[in-house]
Amino acid sequence: MASKFDPNLALNLILPTQPRPNPQPSSTQIPAAAPAAADILVITGGNELSGHVPISGSKNSALAILAATLCCRGASKLNNVPRLADTATMAAVLSSLGAEVEFSGNEVVVETDRVGSAEPDAGLIGRIRGGFFVVGPLLARFGEAAVGLPGGCDIGARPVDIYVRGLRQLGAVVELRDNKLVARAANGRGLVGGRFRLDYPSVGSTQTLMMAACLAEGTTLLSNVAREPEIADLASFLTSTGARVEGVGTDRICVHGTRQLLGTEHTIMPDRIEAGTFMLAAAITRSRISLSPVCPVLLSGLIDKLLGGGCTISHERDELELSAIPRRSGEGLRGFDVRTLPYPGFPTDLQPQTMAMLSTCDGLSIVEESVFENRFTHVKELQKFGAKIHTEGSTAFIHGKGRRDKLRGARVSAADLRGGMALVLAGLAAEGVTQVSRMSNIDRGYESLEAKLRSLGADVKRLEEPNPS
Ligand code: EPU
Repeated sequence: MASKFDPNLALNLILPTQPRPNPQPSSTQIPAAAPAAADILVITGGNELSGHVPISGSKNSALAILAATLCCRGASKLNNVPRLADTATMAAVLSSLGAEVEFSGNEVVVETDRVGSAEPDAGLIGRIRGGFFVVGPLLARFGEAAVGLPGGCDIGARPVDIYVRGLRQLGAVVELRDNKLVARAANGRGLVGGRFRLDYPSVGSTQTLMMAACLAEGTTLLSNVAREPEIADLASFLTSTGARVEGVGTDRICVHGTRQLLGTEHTIMPDRIEAGTFMLAAAITRSRISLSPVCPVLLSGLIDKLLGGGCTISHERDELELSAIPRRSGEGLRGFDVRTLPYPGFPTDLQPQTMAMLSTCDGLSIVEESVFENRFTHVKELQKFGAKIHTEGSTAFIHGKGRRDKLRGARVSAADLRGGMALVLAGLAAEGVTQVSRMSNIDRGYESLEAKLRSLGADVKRLEEPNPS
């Protein structure tokens, strides 16, 4: 029997160190005391990994599609939704608008017929970037929205100028007031299709404008759009609700507006970033593991680099196997260069984990971050393991430690999700014990992380937060 989703409870269970949310409306009881935080991961490094790891549903796809349920009348059922702090926050955002959200394992049912507010809880929106995506559906369906400015990982300025310009092209009056984006349909009825060229192929702007255009009157042509696979997953959900979306996967998307969309059932795509992270975990520990479900073509940027570095990769149907076990004794992995780019380029969400791996390879590797302006917070933490890295602006130079000189266990802090995961990978490969604090930043994006790592043979366990007294 499905249990009713309780945002207060879920957030306390999954996000124990965050301030308690204040979703409205809510008739649920808030537990008197939040459970003690388990915010430190202790890793005893050096174990070779082996076995198979199941890949969860995509966090970023789930966040956009949860927002998209607001476009539909009736109930939508989503399968393969990862149980993460961020998806719990997104569910709480929907509840704060009056939607009924029921979680049962990895299934979520969202019923939106009682949505009575166009202003989600700003405290919740401030926690995750994906919360902001509701601005498109709210404006399209109700003709108005007042949405707090988004949060998410601290990886540089994350402006919303493209969203604002795009929504204006669809006939919205938009202003930024009291740290909120306040928008309404200029004609007092609803959005109107238009043409808009994005200055940059922003993922969230593309998703938000697609959702808004689905319920706009007439046709919308969006150009220079993002081509990330999560956009195709969103389009597939919208199409099955009755929307007409063309051109997904190219740099131009055409949406023919429809009066009404109806709730549907959809299975969230596998998380390509989680899959890439486990591939890098196998590479950094010179191990062999298999993973599924994986769509290798969506990871070709990483696969090509790892093959060039000396890994062996094979796949059959949706299962991929990676081996970084040296074929001859004394043989090591070779470093390589990476430049992050919008899809199909090398994903920025795998840049920190790749950098950790490169710090154990032979030779000099150069990593250039071109998507976010400040996604190197992991560098000073990786240096604590003895990694030889220096940065010049948005470029990092990694002098690999080679075969004999290993990383050493360290006490480090996860400042953001992917950068934090890079530290976990370094800890798996390092000699001795590593403590990664601020694990709540990593819990935002990796479902059942310790259980999965332990099933591969890693020695990891959570420590309670030290008592401040
Ligand atoms: N940008 C602007 N103006 C805008 C929107 C974006 O200048 O109005 C800039 C951003 O500042 C950034 C670049 O465009 O420098 C790319 O941002 P984008 O909008 O593409 O990213 P996002 O939608 O905010 C999503 C993922 C990120 C992922 C990026 C790029 C979600 C919830 N987040 O963010 O995921 O890194 O696309 O692929 O879908 C993560 O999972 O760790 C993560 C950060």
